[in-house]
Amino acid sequence: MRVVDLDRDMSDVIPTGMSLDSEYLFERMTEISISEALPDSGRRVLDVASGVGQDSIELAARGAWVVGAEPSRRMIGMSQLFAAEKAADKTKGSKGPAPGWVQAWSDSLPFATGAFDACICKGALDHFDRPEQAIAEMARVTRSSGRVVLAIANFESLACRAGRALDEMRQDLLGMEPLRERRGYDAPSDHFTRYEVDLMQEQASRHLVLEQVRGISVGWGLPGWSRLVEALPRELGWASLQGLDRLARAAPELADVIVLVGRPRRSPSTSA
Ligand SMILES: C[S@@+](CC[C@H](N)C(=O)[O-])C[C@H]1O[C@@H](n2cnc3c(N)ncnc32)[C@H](O)[C@@H]1O
Repeated sequence: MRVVDLDRDMSDVIPTGMSLDSEYLFERMTEISISEALPDSGRRVLDVASGVGQDSIELAARGAWVVGAEPSRRMIGMSQLFAAEKAADKTKGSKGPAPGWVQAWSDSLPFATGAFDACICKGALDHFDRPEQAIAEMARVTRSSGRVVLAIANFESLACRAGRALDEMRQDLLGMEPLRERRGYDAPSDHFTRYEVDLMQEQASRHLVLEQVRGISVGWGLPGWSRLVEALPRELGWASLQGLDRLARAAPELADVIVLVGRPRRSPSTSA
């Protein structure tokens, strides 16, 4: 039996009030994943673990022919609603056809070898019980010169390491209580893998010829960080986040999110 709730929705993961650092991180994560998958329009793109479908809908708006693959019926229902809302809003016209939605597990994708020009999987690999098999499947269904884009949280980021050191000092040396209920460096209960850059590269490079390993944002989740950024004038806060983002790009091991882009590594059994 698979331990994934097929009726789950995103109410536990979508932040209700967005702080500036969260806004920056989520916006960059979406923009980079989509733009890496979509260097030109009219491409066939598969969005694996598409959740409530926002990236599939955005890819379609930018001209792609998109399939969102997601095991949760509830999330697919929400995706259909959001796509219909977008289609009804004439001010948000879409360049491509509406996305198609398929109920599917990532480690057994119901598509032919080489069926897509690109595949994205954003913020989901650590939810999979068989992530490496999922990467192999993404490589299989993407044509050999196409691209697979994986974006994933880094649980050994600078913020995670500093947060852990701070808690250890408070608790072990000073005998104080932890600063908050869920510590940013602990993987949530619905995560199977605690990714960091080496593990990501190791798993991905068995199935992809990696072209890019880059980081996004530094500092997210560090105690007090959101409040500090919010306290700055918005332009200054945004500029600081952009500066740290440049550091993340150059040193993904420090970054809050890691993005890997690669071309499928073909074996005789996956030769399309
Ligand atoms: C945090 S959400 C990310 C959704 C979306 N990609 C995004 O960026 O918002 C994780 C998704 O992984 C899906 N999921 C969990 N296990 C899965 C599996 N084995 N195969 C495919 N999807 C899975 C969940 O249903 C959920 O939609």
